Amino acid sequence: MFKRKHKKHKKKVAQVVEQEAKDFEEALELLVPSTLIETLPRDQIDTLDQSKATFNNYYVEVGTQSRHRRYFTSQYIQKFGKYSNATMLDPFLIGEFGKGDTDICIHLKKLDDRATLDKLNRKIRGQESDLMMNDADSGRTMDVTEALRDTMSKRERIRQKIESNIEVSIQVLTSSNDIDDLNRYTNTMNRNVLNNDMMMGTPDGRQLKALKNMLPFTANPFIKEHCMALETTNVADLFLFGNGTLSHNGGIVLGDDHLGRPLYFDNFHKDMENYNMIIFGRSGAGKTFTTEVLTHRSAHIGLKTGIVDPKGDYRRFIKAMGCPYFDLSSPTGHRINIFDVDIEEHTDPEREGQLYVNIDEGVQGAKALIFRMIRVNEPENSSILTATARAMIDQTIRQLYTDRGITRDPNSIYDYDAAKANSEGALENGQDMNLTTPYKKMPQLSDFYEALRAKTSNKEAQTIAEVIFIYTRNGGSEVSSIFDTQSSTFNLSRAPIFGFGLSGLDEQMKKIGMFIATKWLSAKFARKNRHIPKRLIFDEAQEAMEDPETASWLENQYRTMRFFNTSMCAITQGFEVFTRVDQGLGILKNSSTKIFLKQEAIDIDSVKNSFDLSEGEAQFLLYTAEKGLGIIRIDNESSIVKVRATPKEFQLFQTDPPRKRKPNPSAS
Ligand SMILES: Nc1ncnc2c1ncn2[C@@H]1O[C@H](COP(=O)(O)OP(=O)(O)OP(=O)(O)O)[C@@H](O)[C@H]1O
Ligand SMILES: [Mg+2]
Repeated sequence: MFKRKHKKHKKKVAQVVEQEAKDFEEALELLVPSTLIETLPRDQIDTLDQSKATFNNYYVEVGTQSRHRRYFTSQYIQKFGKYSNATMLDPFLIGEFGKGDTDICIHLKKLDDRATLDKLNRKIRGQESDLMMNDADSGRTMDVTEALRDTMSKRERIRQKIESNIEVSIQVLTSSNDIDDLNRYTNTMNRNVLNNDMMMGTPDGRQLKALKNMLPFTANPFIKEHCMALETTNVADLFLFGNGTLSHNGGIVLGDDHLGRPLYFDNFHKDMENYNMIIFGRSGAGKTFTTEVLTHRSAHIGLKTGIVDPKGDYRRFIKAMGCPYFDLSSPTGHRINIFDVDIEEHTDPEREGQLYVNIDEGVQGAKALIFRMIRVNEPENSSILTATARAMIDQTIRQLYTDRGITRDPNSIYDYDAAKANSEGALENGQDMNLTTPYKKMPQLSDFYEALRAKTSNKEAQTIAEVIFIYTRNGGSEVSSIFDTQSSTFNLSRAPIFGFGLSGLDEQMKKIGMFIATKWLSAKFARKNRHIPKRLIFDEAQEAMEDPETASWLENQYRTMRFFNTSMCAITQGFEVFTRVDQGLGILKNSSTKIFLKQEAIDIDSVKNSFDLSEGEAQFLLYTAEKGLGIIRIDNESSIVKVRATPKEFQLFQTDPPRKRKPNPSAS
């Protein structure tokens, strides 16, 4: 057995060696081709009508043994409109001109500032004398006056070292396997760039030198008459080999931009106003897929992610990653308690480093949940939640913590008696002592219910008790009472990704459960370990906008999470729902990163107005954007993004039912 394996291995090595040798041979052949001919129009005098000859008839033919012959022609950009801009070379890169390829090669040489200033001074003197010779109000005078002003302001910029002058050669090489295709391709390209205010020049008679200039062997790759002197700022615009149209150059590659360049997304970039994000898109637009790409690649750079998964969309992915997925809807599964509170650090700079139990936050969340339970079940047209009822609920919840001695003091949360009993028990039994002190038992929903019941003379308290009774352990079904419990023990510290699933719950319970899970993860994960970057993702975020209290609670999370180094990431189908309430607008304002995937017609106007999208961008999101294609916006920057998974990732992320499954276009 071992021998066979060994043999197989040897065979593989032999294959690799063979392939490498072949690659090397091919590379060598390109460098030292078997034919390398520069063709000029006069060489073709017999076969070509000279009067029809265009610059394209100057070309280099490269022949190799193992590949097709290929034809190359070089041109240089000689001039462009008055201002450069970051996308001016894009048409070349997109290269949709026919059967051929475009390569761009930029050579730069910093010019001596002193020499540049001398040159500019000479130019200014020339322009001044030109002015003196001309009639004051002739058109020519106006042109020269303007040119003089330009030259003088350029001299000023160089003098003050705001700019430097740089010699630039921008060479555009077109190539094809067929000479006619090459001519057509190059002509189409030239027509296209003429529309863009650019002028091209050809190194006629020196095509071979130009082609060789593209290789890194030439000592002086500049052809003098094909160079421009540009200022630093203009040169910066030429750099298309960077990081897409977002300025990030770290983090993860989320996909490609509109030119197929890798698009980096650094969720914790220091310039970002906050780390939160929202992903919008209609059903099937690729929200879950995008989120999985984000989560998977982030895990590889050490970012931890917790996911609240109402529909069970992430289960397969999380499990395939070998990470824990806690199904809260399973009858025997893990449980969380809506009254859990925890210790966290003060966000107030004056109390930096001080710890406290954030009871207020816990009460706000629990109250919002109880309001939601009441709204879901209150008889139609009744208004149980009067101002006094709300105040009474608030006071009753606070009392539950007070009764257990749990206050803002971090010491108050620990159960020292239990710790002592545990260690004594361990000593007696000769076991190892557990040195961690457990937390006290937290209040539970049935404690809240009992507390209301105890207010026998308060009619409102009795009504509310009746409504929430079904959520208590004695109140009815096992399913609706799953949150009346002490929390299970979760070990979240080791897993890079973990999920809380709710897909088994009915619609009403799911709406409540999603919020319970988000609240719990906020206290136990997002607001802990504040120096470690992490992400909390929750899908179906539009649900939280249904109640003002839930929406407010969530908005508060979005406002405070930067301090805890946490990125809150909301995924939602319904954009319009967010813009309808103030809290939704607050959440949008506190999300530096927004990803828009394909939109529903009903949402497009609010998306367009809220984010000042152009008509073109709106049309793109409504019609053009296919799955995984959208716009990413980070504070003031934005780019088109095509979220692209590797074939292996695609296998992990696939959520479409298998029968409908389409092959991954990027897998080929
Ligand atoms: N970037 C992508 N590349 C390839 N396929 C994709 C991409 N994005 C989405 N898909 C395909 O579309 C399917 C549906 O996408 P996804 O489940 O992410 O949509 P969704 O927006 O989350 O929908 P819903 O709102 O219904 O949850 C995926 O299973 C996958 O097959
Ligand atoms: Mg989804």
